[in-house]
Amino acid sequence: MRTITIKPKAITHNLNQVKKLAPQSKVLAMVKSNAYGHGVAAVLPALTQADGIGVATFTEALEARQLGWNKTIGLVEGAFTADEWQQAIEQDVSCVIHHVPQLTWALDNVPPADSATRVVWLKYNTGMNRLGFNAEGVINAARQLKETGYQLILTTHFANADDHDHPLNAMQIQRFTDVLAILQSTISPTIKGSLCNSAGIVNFSEHHYDWVRPGIILYGSSPVIDKTAQELDLQSAMDFSAQIIALQTVSANDGIGYGSRWIAQQDTKTALVSVGYGDGYPRVVNDDAYVSVIDDTSNHSYPCAVIGRVAMDMIVIDVSKVPAEVPLLNSKVILWGSAPHVDEVAAHAGTISYELLCRVTMRPKRLQA
Ligand SMILES: Cc1ncc(COP(=O)(O)O)c(C=O)c1O
Repeated sequence: MRTITIKPKAITHNLNQVKKLAPQSKVLAMVKSNAYGHGVAAVLPALTQADGIGVATFTEALEARQLGWNKTIGLVEGAFTADEWQQAIEQDVSCVIHHVPQLTWALDNVPPADSATRVVWLKYNTGMNRLGFNAEGVINAARQLKETGYQLILTTHFANADDHDHPLNAMQIQRFTDVLAILQSTISPTIKGSLCNSAGIVNFSEHHYDWVRPGIILYGSSPVIDKTAQELDLQSAMDFSAQIIALQTVSANDGIGYGSRWIAQQDTKTALVSVGYGDGYPRVVNDDAYVSVIDDTSNHSYPCAVIGRVAMDMIVIDVSKVPAEVPLLNSKVILWGSAPHVDEVAAHAGTISYELLCRVTMRPKRLQA
């Protein structure tokens, strides 16, 4: 059976790691894209010690409210229409304002004084060049919003925080620090700041400001290029497993699967695992990709290479190194979890864990540990 097991305790552990790294900051826990594929309903109860959650679409905000989340919700791309701004007010959602149309909706339709929508995350483009005002625009917007009665959090997003020494980091930090100082001295000392995603939390401890916005770190992946999840004492929050449903011995010089991409150098004992890209396992992986076969009786795990092309419903693995006495048929196979870690699988697939986690499909049975 294909199974995705979500581990809320791991998420709470990872949240506590964030709090240790950024003890002075409030935490906006990112749960966009169905909590990075983990399922927002499964994840929210693990985040009760967060100060708020971050989502990318109003539908996600609404879902969280319907699930009973009654603390801060930050909408990180803001409202997409004037109507959505009104709905944000009705649902007490705090919005990013990153361009003039959103500023106009906010100035024209001011929420009640006690509404969470009175808190605006004003986006400054410090170098990512996706969303946000330039320095002059952000100062003008801040002045107008403050005069209209909004509380402000100046925010920006790192483009390269995973790589500590990337030169753009220092530039983004400098721009952010300078503009925040100007806003605080010329408009209001109460204006707050929010700079760091997961990688920023790990790499830039001097610059955590009032709110940090962890995403991937909560789910147990390393956000930085020079430290593993284990080194950061993170626990992976998703176990993805399946089962061996058939065994073969493939003769030397015979190929396996579509395109006969893998050719046996010698007679090779193989196992068919009932999982594929239709479940969210990546279709293209390199020759280092492996899964762990679990021996039910000893609980010992055996790394086995993925061979041949990943198909929609099946992968083939090389089980020739598993001792003959281990019963393979029906054995459990870990695709990612503690080993291999999803970060390793992502590296073998030429992508990042974010993508693999978001792309698991509805077919595997969902469980909670
Ligand atoms: C504005 C913003 N803040 C924080 C995050 C969290 O990023 P990460 O998952 O790298 O921590 C994201 C995710 O892309 C984001 O868009």
